[in-house]
Formats: sequence, structure tokens, C-alpha cells
Amino acid sequence: MKTATEVCPLCAGSGWKPVPGAPERGVTRCDCQLRARGGAIIAAARIPKRYEHCELSNFEFEGPHSHLAHARTAAYRFVEEYPVDKTGLLLIGNAGSGKTHLAVGILKALICEKGIECVFYDYADLLKQIQDSYNPSVQTTELGLLRPVFETEVLVLDDLGSVRPTDWRWDTVRLIVNTRYNDSRTTIITTNFPNKPPAALADRRTTKAKDPNATKHADDFSEQAPADWEKYTLGDRIGEPMRSRLHEMCRVVKMDGPDFRKKFKSASFG
Ligand SMILES: Nc1ncnc2c1ncn2[C@@H]1O[C@H](COP(=O)(O)OP(=O)(O)OP(=O)(O)O)[C@@H](O)[C@H]1O
Ligand SMILES: [Mg+2]
Ligand SMILES: [Zn+2]
Repeated sequence: MKTATEVCPLCAGSGWKPVPGAPERGVTRCDCQLRARGGAIIAAARIPKRYEHCELSNFEFEGPHSHLAHARTAAYRFVEEYPVDKTGLLLIGNAGSGKTHLAVGILKALICEKGIECVFYDYADLLKQIQDSYNPSVQTTELGLLRPVFETEVLVLDDLGSVRPTDWRWDTVRLIVNTRYNDSRTTIITTNFPNKPPAALADRRTTKAKDPNATKHADDFSEQAPADWEKYTLGDRIGEPMRSRLHEMCRVVKMDGPDFRKKFKSASFG
């Protein structure tokens, strides 16, 4: 038998509550059901520990952070309108500007408020996992790994373009993005690279292919920030066709601003 504290006061345990503000419209899923389902989906969403604290509610946007107010508004609007409007988001800005925080906040809000299944993947980690699971003897990749990437309702792909491009990486990203596009699934993407076509200067990909060391570089997932990092554009890192595909799938939200890690964290922690 349940004690009074265990029974949900909103629905008395039925799982349904009157539509807020419009009881004449009948009943809707109770918050307690969304919370219970939300807990399970949050666990499946693969949010890295480092970003567990990220919520829309603790995303600062006033005073010194007022340059982020438009991004916060875009995030709230996205959550409110999903799934009527399934257009994704392309969050673009320099390191530490708050892109991943906002993406994780959106993902948690979709889960907790709407019970939507979401998955978070870091771009470099995802490519590495796919590559590691590739079985050369049968020339296939473990489908169990790819299925949520293809099929989850909302995918966060964090730090797009963060590893050096190779033909295999481009093919893999193209397959993921195009499959989601064709199936009308929503993708939220963050990236550091300026939203511009390939810069002739930085188009090393073709040069690399002729480079005898190309395969050595191709397997380097540890690349962090090469000295010439800032010369690259998004077009350089993911290819122009993929960049223009992303514009069909996503609304662009610019988030340039001070590096939160340096400027604000060091101020508050001494
Ligand atoms: N507007 C904000 N309000 C509160 N915390 C923030 C805000 N922006 C960033 N942070 C915090 O600062 C840290 C860095 O932010 P985040 O990881 O989102 O940056 P990023 O733009 O994704 O950087 P990178 O390009 O390096 O991945 C995180 O701990 C995040 O929670
Ligand atoms: Mg980030
Ligand atoms: Zn309830």
C-alpha cells in the first residue's frame, strides 16, 4: 500500500491531470509520469559528466553575458516549438562561449518537459567509436552503435569538425546527417569553426591525400588545437555540400563572446 507522500498530489496516482488552464480540454500526462520517464531517458542520453550541471535555467544571459540573450531565447523557443517545428540548431561560436552548455540544457528540457528521446555525442568520440567497431572481416560497423545516432528523435552532435577531415570521416558524417535529414529527425550541432565556405588557403585535404604520411594523420583522433586552427572554416572541416545541408536542417545561432572558462570561472574561483 502506498503512503500519502508517495501518491502524486496532481493526479492521485492515475498518471493523468487536467490540461493546465483549460480543464475543459480533458486530461494530459501528469508531471510525475514525465519525471519518471525523463529520469530513464536522461540516463540513456549519454550526457558527459563534465556537462551534467548544464541547464537552460542556469545559463546566464544578463549583464556581462547579455551577448548570449538571443541564443538563450532561441533555445527556449526551440524547446517550446518542438516537435511542431523540427528545425534543428547550429550553434556557432568560439571556444568557451557556452555552446555545449546550451545544447545540453535544450536536450534536458526536451527530455524532462516533453519526454523526447535525445542522445548526446561528441563528434570526435562518435567517429572514433564507429571506427573502432568496424569489423574488417565483414566490412560492417556495429549497427547497435549507429542505431541511436540515426534514429533518436533529437541528436546533439557536439564540436562538429573537431578532428582533421579524411574521406572516411566525411563519408561517415554525410551518412549520419543525410539519414537524419531524410527521416525528418532533428539535429543540434555545435562548432567552433566560422560558418564560411572552404578557404582556399586551408584546403589541405586534397594535399593530404597525396601526402605519404596521410594515413598516419588520418588516424589521429587526439588532435586538439593545431597552431593554424583559426585558419579553418566550417567548409574546410566538413566540406561545402555538408555545410549547405546543415543550413537546410538547422537555424544558425551565433554565440561568439568571451571564453566563459577563462573570464568568469577564474574570477569566481580565484
Ligand atoms: N552563459 C553561461 N552561463 C553559465 N555557464 C556557462 C555559460 N556559458 C558557458 N558556461 C560554462 O562555461 C563552461 C564552458 O562552456 P561550454 O563548454 O558550453 O563552451 P563551448 O562553447 O562549448 O566551448 P568549446 O568550443 O570549447 O566546446 C561550461 O562549464 C559551461 O557550463
Ligand atoms: Mg563545447
Ligand atoms: Zn502525477
